[in-house]
Amino acid sequence: MSEPTFEEELRPPYEEGVLLDVRGIRTYFFTEEGIVRALENVSYKVYEAKTLGIVGESGCGKSVSALSVMGIVPDPPGKIIEGEVWYRGEDLRKKSDAEMRTIRGNKMAMIFQDPMTSLNPVLTVGDQIMEAIRLHQEVDLQTARENAIKIMDLVGIPSAVDRVDDYPFMFSGGMRQRVMIAMSLSCNPELLIADEPTTALDVTIQAQILNILKAIRNEFNMSIMLITHDLGVIAELTDYVTVMYAGYIVEYASTIELFKNPMHPYSIALLGAIPKPDTRKDDDLTIIPGAIPNLITPPPGCRFHPRCSHTMDICKKEITKLRQVAPQHTVRCHLFNKYPVAEVEEYTEKMRERYQREQLEEIQTKKFKRRLKKFIKGRE
Ligand SMILES: Nc1ncnc2c1ncn2[C@@H]1O[C@H](COP(=O)(O)OP(=O)(O)O)[C@@H](O)[C@H]1O
Ligand code: SF4
Ligand SMILES: [Mg+2]
Repeated sequence: MSEPTFEEELRPPYEEGVLLDVRGIRTYFFTEEGIVRALENVSYKVYEAKTLGIVGESGCGKSVSALSVMGIVPDPPGKIIEGEVWYRGEDLRKKSDAEMRTIRGNKMAMIFQDPMTSLNPVLTVGDQIMEAIRLHQEVDLQTARENAIKIMDLVGIPSAVDRVDDYPFMFSGGMRQRVMIAMSLSCNPELLIADEPTTALDVTIQAQILNILKAIRNEFNMSIMLITHDLGVIAELTDYVTVMYAGYIVEYASTIELFKNPMHPYSIALLGAIPKPDTRKDDDLTIIPGAIPNLITPPPGCRFHPRCSHTMDICKKEITKLRQVAPQHTVRCHLFNKYPVAEVEEYTEKMRERYQREQLEEIQTKKFKRRLKKFIKGRE
């Protein structure tokens, strides 16, 4: 019997310790230009009190994946064509709009890349946090205000008592993101979905926001789904990683496993593209040749094949299933179907050699992780 694929592995209806279980989601956008095949058979799990990272270049389908979970894919033009979103043993796709609004308010919260677009410019930040609190708790205005100040304090907004009556434009980008995090925490969610929460911020502030997310995860035992194109952020904060390419999950592993033993050629290339701690800005970066395909007319077969240096004939015709290569590690690549798992290791060794040998060797060592941590700390 062949080994189970990740999708098959996901079949049990409810698994202890799994908060979110996304199964075979396909989301398309029906536009005038054609059908954008944004998500194809996407499956992943978020465990209780753990952080799942979703990583990939821009346009891979990371945000659409989050919107699909939250039930807020813009329709039209978007539609979830098929798939299930299980949350604590219930399929959210079967819920009504009203039920989903309640779930979004009470169980899941989402923070976005650009906090300004999610804040109301004509209301004070205090009013907005208080509104979020009163939506979920029956408390009077005074208590809501006190709680708002407490949460602002918690996310590191200095002099929260004074700043509670300020308007969003009076806050810097980093402080606005803290306000957004405060609002998302006000309903005490079980799952926080953070979509590129640090991308719009400068590096010093990025590190501070990451530290806040870390503190939240540890203090509240919250599950976090962290979407980013930055593997440095993944290394800092996540327990598991899903690597996405052009609408498909191409690799899933524990974070340590992915950094130690990346297998999919795209993951290996992404890891090769991490700036080294001593890299000067815009210097020496490994850029993955080529670009993400247009998802209206994606390449047939493996969508990565035009950019892959291992492309075989079959890659241009067929997309393969995710194949389990280790207990917490699945890969979608023909290389791993063609060869027995035992030989896969040898193969990845060869692949690694092709991609910036020195950089990758460094990535595979603990030293790299230490240096990366130091590098990120150094940004603070
Ligand atoms: N509202 C929309 N209408 C049409 N296409 C969309 C829409 N939103 C996203 N897409 C397409 O879906 C694909 C995945 O987008 P997205 O999830 O935003 O990527 P990522 O977050 O990884 O950068 C892209 O090809 C994007 O153009
Ligand atoms: S399936 Fe083929 S083209 Fe795609 S990543 Fe693997 S080797 Fe490269
Ligand atoms: Mg996005």
